[in-house]
Amino acid sequence: MRHLIIGASGQVGGYLWNKLNRDHEDVVGTYYSHPVKNQVQCDFTDMAEVTKLIQDGKPDVVWIPAALPDVDRCEREPELSYVLNVKAPRQVGEVARDNGAKLVFFSTDYVFDGTSGPYRETDVPNPLQVYGKHKAEAEEFLIQNAPDVLIIRPAWIYSEEPNPRNFVFRILQQLKDGHTVRAAIDQINTPTDSRDLVERALAAVNRGDHGIRHMVGPDRLSRYDLTLKIAKDHGFSSSMVEPITTASLNLPARRPLNGGLVTIYARGV
Ligand SMILES: NC(=O)c1ccc[n+]([C@@H]2O[C@H](COP(=O)([O-])OP(=O)(O)OC[C@H]3O[C@@H](n4cnc5c(N)ncnc54)[C@H](OP(=O)(O)O)[C@@H]3O)[C@@H](O)[C@H]2O)c1
Repeated sequence: MRHLIIGASGQVGGYLWNKLNRDHEDVVGTYYSHPVKNQVQCDFTDMAEVTKLIQDGKPDVVWIPAALPDVDRCEREPELSYVLNVKAPRQVGEVARDNGAKLVFFSTDYVFDGTSGPYRETDVPNPLQVYGKHKAEAEEFLIQNAPDVLIIRPAWIYSEEPNPRNFVFRILQQLKDGHTVRAAIDQINTPTDSRDLVERALAAVNRGDHGIRHMVGPDRLSRYDLTLKIAKDHGFSSSMVEPITTASLNLPARRPLNGGLVTIYARGV
């Protein structure tokens, strides 16, 4: 199978890129602003570039982990969020469809409002913020217009990567620097290991799955409990983690509180 990953320089795209390369698969990966060896640069808002990549490479599967996943930035810059989270994936979806490729789009649990989580694939989205609204809009378009689309919804993705995009790394940096970490006690979710996510996404593609699939980890816990676990697992005192409420953070974008997803696939499958 021939793969094209748009956004192979990111957290999820990077794991997918490494895994496919390790497995000696035929894969082309793109970066935008963070160059990665052997990847090609691509701005996925530029349809001429995307069309050329797909027409020249003839991928069987086009993966789109590329996005603007910074929820607060989306709230502050909704036009940019629209371009990156709706317009670009929509157009890539059309080009993939017209060239006979399967499309895999990464969406989010933030399509739900967090009043009655955890949510199933059959639950109706009701996003609270620009990011979730835009992801839901992209999902809707792709479901209607790209018959062979697989939409994957993860939540709170983490990895082992020493990279500021990874929140586990950010928390550990703060703790190592001797700072107390404040974490919301009222945000509950189902964290997702990026390696596990990639394994399951590949299995779903190999099975020929399409439609919407929730893919999250087995635990459902608060941001505070998760941060406490990360601190303890790395030998830091629990006193360095301070419980706070989401409201006290005064964030630009609203967060789903009683959130998380139900996934029907067993871990690692
Ligand atoms: N992170 C989470 O907790 C979380 C939770 C639920 C769902 N998701 C979704 O999962 C997916 C992957 O998230 P992630 O954490 O892996 O994101 P990430 O690490 O921020 O990666 C984003 C990727 O998008 C690329 N990109 C940005 N602007 C681009 C442009 N104009 N043209 C082409 N590529 C562009 C980036 O390239 P450069 O870095 O090279 O600029 C990077 O490869 C996203 O769809 C996100 O919405 C994430």
